[in-house]
Amino acid sequence: MAAVDAGWTVIGVDNFEAKVAMINGGLSPVEDISNPQLQAAIAKGVYKATTDYSSVSQASVITICVPTPLDGKRQPDLSLLRSAARGIAPFVSNKTLVVSESTSYPGTLRDIIIPLINSLKPEDSSTIYFASAPERVNPGDPVWNQKNTPRLIGSIDKESQQRAITFYESICDAAVSVSTPEVAEAAKLLENTFRLVNIALINEFTQLCTAGGINVNEVIDAAASKPYGFMPFRPGVGVGGHCIPVDPLYLTWWARQNGGRAPFVELADSINHQMPKYIAERALSMVDTEIRNPRVLILGVAYKSGVSDVRETPVSELRDYLKAQGAEVAWHDPLVPVWGGLDSVELDWDCDVAILATKQPGMKFKRLIDRGVNILDCTNSIIGQAGVSSL
Ligand SMILES: NC(=O)c1ccc[n+]([C@@H]2O[C@H](COP(=O)([O-])OP(=O)(O)OC[C@H]3O[C@@H](n4cnc5c(N)ncnc54)[C@H](O)[C@@H]3O)[C@@H](O)[C@H]2O)c1
Repeated sequence: MAAVDAGWTVIGVDNFEAKVAMINGGLSPVEDISNPQLQAAIAKGVYKATTDYSSVSQASVITICVPTPLDGKRQPDLSLLRSAARGIAPFVSNKTLVVSESTSYPGTLRDIIIPLINSLKPEDSSTIYFASAPERVNPGDPVWNQKNTPRLIGSIDKESQQRAITFYESICDAAVSVSTPEVAEAAKLLENTFRLVNIALINEFTQLCTAGGINVNEVIDAAASKPYGFMPFRPGVGVGGHCIPVDPLYLTWWARQNGGRAPFVELADSINHQMPKYIAERALSMVDTEIRNPRVLILGVAYKSGVSDVRETPVSELRDYLKAQGAEVAWHDPLVPVWGGLDSVELDWDCDVAILATKQPGMKFKRLIDRGVNILDCTNSIIGQAGVSSL
């Protein structure tokens, strides 16, 4: 949509037929894009979705932005990226710019995407330009968006860089040039690893503060009064979504490929994964010890506030640990109607304790407070209410 707004005609290629049909029917699958915005672009003939890779032959710029998840061994899974590169390669026209926006480890563009495309491209497409410009999106953020977030660009040669800068300057307020694609790829991993380790630090610090009888959020507020050298991060159930828990493991994997290790990052990952257990135990300690199978209501299951995305949500580990302790668990999330095959319950579900895991807009947790339900608030949203403990 940013490219549409900048005057480009855009074709979205996706191999998920139902999603393509939904988009062409004017329904946006992306929370930050409204249906009227999408419908206007379709009506003007400047945007359409298709499953047909051959349509990329009309493009002067191709951006690849498919998911880059982890495999069963928690290692980089580039199968979708490879399949997208294989899909477009036979149809890439001469002098087209191909940009990888997917997050991955340094070397992905040069060592995987470029050889694949060069080996399958049409014979008359002698010159293809390549760049890496990692996607920077914070879903649900009312301030920072595609347009006003500077975009990193690293290319394989000067001509590619010039073309990539021209394209991204047309859709973003600022394009930041770096010397190679590897620098752009590594910077993306650094950005998200920075968040992972700082969240882990605060999650560890939270446990120290609780044991010492201090409110961690008050400590963070106090430290944040320092105008330099400190950035407030907040504790929570862990990290979720398809970026913060995933991208640092691309970094640890890349470190191992180069004969090194990233123990600091591995430790941060492991501390965050201990949080669901810590929170479950704190919540269960708020229940009368005579109740053998406590009924626990989890409030908010999306990985962060204001979104319906449950991918990699740490709440699933919280739910599983509670169940393993014999608890009966239900959940409520106004933005997530169904999760794990089960429906969101109403707030009048009879429970022995509630855990506010993700604060969602429209969540009326006051109804629980009025009923006298004890709540463990992991979001620092309910201040000074009887029966509410904060992390
Ligand atoms: N969404 C974010 O908040 C965000 C932020 C920063 C970086 N990223 C990165 O951007 C990349 C994409 O993430 P996303 O959230 O947009 O993913 P997504 O899952 O929302 O969408 C990707 C789309 O790619 C399609 N797809 C998968 N394989 C394909 C193939 N071979 N050919 C064509 N289409 C294919 C899927 O059907 C899906 O519709 C990832 O590398 C992610 O790490 C995402």
